[in-house]
Amino acid sequence: SVESALRRRGAASSNRRLFSSDSVPERKVAILGAAGGIGQPLALLMKLNPLVSNLALYDIAGTAGVAADVGHINTRAQVAGYVGEEQLGKALEGSDVVIIPAGVPRKPGMTRDDLFNINAGIVKSLCTAIAKYCPSAVVNMISNPVNSTVPIASEVFKKAGTYDEKKLFGVTTLDVVRAKTFYTGKAKVPLRECLQLIDVNVPVVGGHAGITILPLFSQATPAGNDLSTEDIKALTKRTQDGGTEVVEAKAGKGSATLSMAYAGAIFADACLKGLNGVPDIVECSFVQSSITELPFFASKVRLGKNGVVEVLGLGPLSDYEEEGLENLKPELKASIEKGIKFARDN
Ligand code: NAI
Repeated sequence: SVESALRRRGAASSNRRLFSSDSVPERKVAILGAAGGIGQPLALLMKLNPLVSNLALYDIAGTAGVAADVGHINTRAQVAGYVGEEQLGKALEGSDVVIIPAGVPRKPGMTRDDLFNINAGIVKSLCTAIAKYCPSAVVNMISNPVNSTVPIASEVFKKAGTYDEKKLFGVTTLDVVRAKTFYTGKAKVPLRECLQLIDVNVPVVGGHAGITILPLFSQATPAGNDLSTEDIKALTKRTQDGGTEVVEAKAGKGSATLSMAYAGAIFADACLKGLNGVPDIVECSFVQSSITELPFFASKVRLGKNGVVEVLGLGPLSDYEEEGLENLKPELKASIEKGIKFARDN
């Protein structure tokens, strides 16, 4: 009948819509520092992400090889390598998401703040270019010290008149990934959920360095009812020192790169899903915030078509977490102010 023919045609056209390119929007992602320890595996993971249509790999050296290599993978994203400052504009133009893992990593005995002098300048110059070439892109800041580099980025964007606080994110996902892993190893959560790490959740708030990293194990799901206060303290310390654990194990060859690339890919994917209008995308991130008296703070954030839709509150804290929160504020405040001062003075 005519009716069933129309129904068939309707089904065919909605199938076409499902698979046509306009059902998955074009999205360009740029990675700045793409030839580095984080940049290379992150380039690989973003090449595997079906939400990415264009992948721009930028560094001061070495991106031609990374781009040729990753570009041979038969997934959707078109890959291009860009090298040197004169190609930075082309790398950035049209980007929806810019991920920044550029800069030096820690060596044993160093704190993240020891990286400040080198990385602050790198972040400042890269953000100046972002303001010029892709001012409305979502920025995922990985370069350390995140507690200072995010405020630096905000000042650079303010000066350029392009600052949108909804689009600037410090990537703290690795702290969440570590908290989930350590928690699952320790808590006697039901085995079914244990096997699927993805079902375990632990919010991590504050900042991204030492005691400013505050995992909220009291809010972990599924609840680890058998955890003692001592267990929680040990898990908290291991999460705070997770980066140092890797730095020491690598003995001078850098800091976390593979787990960081994984975490960076998770966070960028969440940003892309938000941009594409997927509902209920929530991740922890270090953002401009008014949930405490500090101007930047990491907490759960709901992501949407324009970046941050809502910075979620901390929820109920245990006494131990309340104490951790008060203890971290002076250090986090100082790191934020150091970043702002650097950007204003330079
Ligand atoms: P890496 O030294 O292996 O790679 C850094 C890359 O940045 C190099 O390829 C270098 O050429 C490039 N670079 C330097 N100056 C640049 C510039 N002006 N423009 C573009 N690229 C530039 O270091 P790795 O291990 O990849 O770490 C990168 C950063 O990520 C470090 O600051 C590190 O502390 C940070 N990090 C952050 C984490 C987080 O959780 N947010 C976790 C682990 C590391």
